[in-house]
Amino acid sequence: MDSQSEVIAAFAPRFMYVKDKMLITGGRPLMGEITVSGGKNTAVAAIAATLLCDEPCTVENLPDIDDVHALNEILQSLGAQVDYVPGKYLTVDPRGVHAFRVPYALTKRLRASYYMLGALLGRGLRAEVAYPGGCDIGSRLIDQHLKGFAALGARIDDRGGMVYANAERLTGGDVFFDLVTVGGTINVMLAAVRAEGTTVMYNVAKEPHIVDLANFLNSMGARIKGAGTNVIRIRGVQHLHSTTYAVIPDQIETGTLMIAAAATRGDVTIHGCIPTHMEALTAKLLEMGVRVTENDDSIRVRPQGEQRAVNVKTQVYPGFPTDLQQPMTALLCMASGTSSVCETIFEQRFKHLDELRRMGAHIRLVDRTVLIEGVRELYGAPVTVTDLRAGAALVVAGLMAKGVTEIYEPSYIDRGYERIEDKLRRLGADIRREKL
Ligand code: EPU
Repeated sequence: MDSQSEVIAAFAPRFMYVKDKMLITGGRPLMGEITVSGGKNTAVAAIAATLLCDEPCTVENLPDIDDVHALNEILQSLGAQVDYVPGKYLTVDPRGVHAFRVPYALTKRLRASYYMLGALLGRGLRAEVAYPGGCDIGSRLIDQHLKGFAALGARIDDRGGMVYANAERLTGGDVFFDLVTVGGTINVMLAAVRAEGTTVMYNVAKEPHIVDLANFLNSMGARIKGAGTNVIRIRGVQHLHSTTYAVIPDQIETGTLMIAAAATRGDVTIHGCIPTHMEALTAKLLEMGVRVTENDDSIRVRPQGEQRAVNVKTQVYPGFPTDLQQPMTALLCMASGTSSVCETIFEQRFKHLDELRRMGAHIRLVDRTVLIEGVRELYGAPVTVTDLRAGAALVVAGLMAKGVTEIYEPSYIDRGYERIEDKLRRLGADIRREKL
């Protein structure tokens, strides 16, 4: 071995596959105004839902992120005609869709590929979809989705990493979810909108994107009631017509920007968001001593003296979102006192902790609770992203830290945040990407 790069190549082969890294010089307060992009988790459900339509339909306000690009490719592989202008709209004409199989090569790119099951089943009574990929944050079962399809009359076979679902006809039925599942609620909704008769889903998720998806489907002529409550009732319809629909703003991008503003003791106004979707985070920031003010569609975050430790527990909406747990943990690394962050949704959403420790955080994990003893400073260090929101946490930590943080595998962040470094740079951050 005669050079450092040969040593790295020999002992850390995964670096050979890393295309770029993100570099952040921390310590600069974020200042200014920024507009949030469309919501990732509505976008991915809405794109799948276009398959149910009998005519072309258009989804607007989609974030320009990898998950959207991957779903676009899946739709095209099935035979849909897609007109996609990134950041503007995506029009899908599903009339040419006769295929019903989505292989692992396509599903491994994102979790939301599981929506192809509900959408293809609802469209053509047949779906063969490989188990999804996506972020590795826990076991992420889909048994409740499959149970819901079965309640509508589908036969389900699950072998060799594939789910096979088919039915002669789908008929409305009662679906009792054993636990609250966002993906399960959406997937069964997709399968039920064209089923014969009425489907009643109990113990459903109430996230804003469930309501948004129901609004989108209703704008095509579906008859969905109760989205946003514990019980959703769907009267099946035979025909869904063309529509144009703009998805809601991204609740998690909004939250990440709020946390980043607080973390840098900056003064940031986030436009185009829905403040009522942010209440769990806003309440925690206020409790920490951060100033948060709201208008109809904007939120301003400003510093106000010392930031205090708080206790956080992730819960289904309207509780504190699991998707903000990791960035919030990064913020609390420098709050005065001892904070606790309990993750109740995903059992392994803790892979950011080792990386935060490299940056000087004092953190312990006890069962599913992170205990954080606030430190006066974090230090820049080389760190590696393991999943989307871990990436957001490391960006927040990098913005707070003294010196340069090198973030490897930032492509995880591109799955769910639209050009995050451009947005942060506009707010004054010293952040860039470098090819490796
Ligand atoms: N679960 C089951 N069985 C099921 C479904 C879920 O046991 O059939 C369990 C899961 O293992 C998990 C919990 O229930 O422990 C909640 O899972 P849920 O189904 O609600 O989550 P998901 O559909 O896998 C979506 C989002 C996630 C977000 C969660 C919770 C999409 C594509 N993904 O995941 O988003 O964290 O809901 O709100 O909408 C992210 O954006 O970073 C992300 C991971």
